[in-house]
Amino acid sequence: MQKLLIKGKTSLKGKILISGSKNATLPILAASILAKEVNLSNIPMVKDIFTMVELLKFMGASIKISKKKNSINIKNNFKKINTLAPYKLVKTMRAGVLALGPLLTKFKKAKVSLPGGCAIGTRPVDLHLFALKKLGARIKIKDGYILANTPKGLVGTTIIFPKISVGATENALLAAFNARGKTILKNCAIEPEIMDLINFLKKLGSRIDVKGRKIIIFKNEKIIKKIKHKIIFDRIELGTYMIAAALIGKKIKITKIDTNVIKNEINVLKKMGIDIKVSKNSIEISKGKKLKKINIKTMPYPGFPTDLQAQLMVLMTQADGTSKIVENIFENRFMHVPELKRMGANIVIRNKTAFVIGPSKLTGAEVMATDLRASVSLVLAGLVADKRTIINRIYHLDRGYEKLEVKLQKCKALIKRI
Ligand code: UD1
Repeated sequence: MQKLLIKGKTSLKGKILISGSKNATLPILAASILAKEVNLSNIPMVKDIFTMVELLKFMGASIKISKKKNSINIKNNFKKINTLAPYKLVKTMRAGVLALGPLLTKFKKAKVSLPGGCAIGTRPVDLHLFALKKLGARIKIKDGYILANTPKGLVGTTIIFPKISVGATENALLAAFNARGKTILKNCAIEPEIMDLINFLKKLGSRIDVKGRKIIIFKNEKIIKKIKHKIIFDRIELGTYMIAAALIGKKIKITKIDTNVIKNEINVLKKMGIDIKVSKNSIEISKGKKLKKINIKTMPYPGFPTDLQAQLMVLMTQADGTSKIVENIFENRFMHVPELKRMGANIVIRNKTAFVIGPSKLTGAEVMATDLRASVSLVLAGLVADKRTIINRIYHLDRGYEKLEVKLQKCKALIKRI
């Protein structure tokens, strides 16, 4: 099994290029079920994307991937579609459940495996099913599968989500694509990745209006044969490298991004005393002289993202005083804490709050990755720690970070895969 070996305390210097967003690519790949031919560029070549591609192939799509160009070309033959998403493909990647909306709206039936448990919490799909039922789908759960059909097709309506969910908003948007009449979604997630999905659906002929947390989708009347779409940059990858630079950067420059999307994260780092130069499409960031404590809460966008919580916690270990993180999105997302403590961090957890008492001197250790973002927090800790850190189970990292060690090596980090 592969591991990452890190020798810490080497300053990072150089340029980092951010990949396309995994969390935008996954729903857009699901949306490709609605199209005849799609060309997607700026795709991150990571494990979850390959799993989603396998799923689309299983359903009958012809797909060509160019790893060199970071692009994917998809052609669908609507007469030969298989409306099944099997357990073996959905169990490792929850986004498989996003096939439900497009299959139902286009082919009036779908059989999709329930995604099952997940390390960071129970992660149910009740809100996805709630929205689909409101649009007229008949749904049964049998033998671990969601069986859904709508013999006469879905019908637009008003849906008020009782809780904000990224995935459920995406599934509802996808399902509303061919629904008769108008669909109004209220209390939606409005993450930049959802806006990217909306832009994709608009290219496919949809008329969609967004007003605050309200999204209005009009029935799609047009048939557009071929579309091209460039995926937005990965704001979580960007945030991760910003934190790496804040921990141990001499001067890290990150270009070809939209800094408007990450205003909140920039403010958090500035408040902690990090030296940041921000322009519209690039950012330059170095380690602060003396880091200050901060309190944050994870919230749906535009709030602070749960996907950056573990990484920010590492930065907090280097700040003066007690910082506080309230994790509001997932119930079990502090699994990196025992491993960070083994490296010397002083962290106390009370229910959904973590108190990080800093500054702590981190020392390298052999640690175990537990989920995608937890693993990258251990990489960050390894970069700032004394001595050598070995990270096991890095397949979690490969699900979402493209060429992580290569990007860090280019900035002089002593990191290698063994
Ligand atoms: C997406 C992201 C993930 C991110 C999360 C929150 C993708 C592929 N993944 O996950 O990286 O951490 O948003 O920003 O884009 N919930 C329910 N019932 C449901 C659905 C969700 O109770 O039917 C709960 C979840 O358990 C969680 C909260 O709602 O507590 C938010 O989850 P959600 O926004 O749906 O996350 P995902 O779409 O799974």
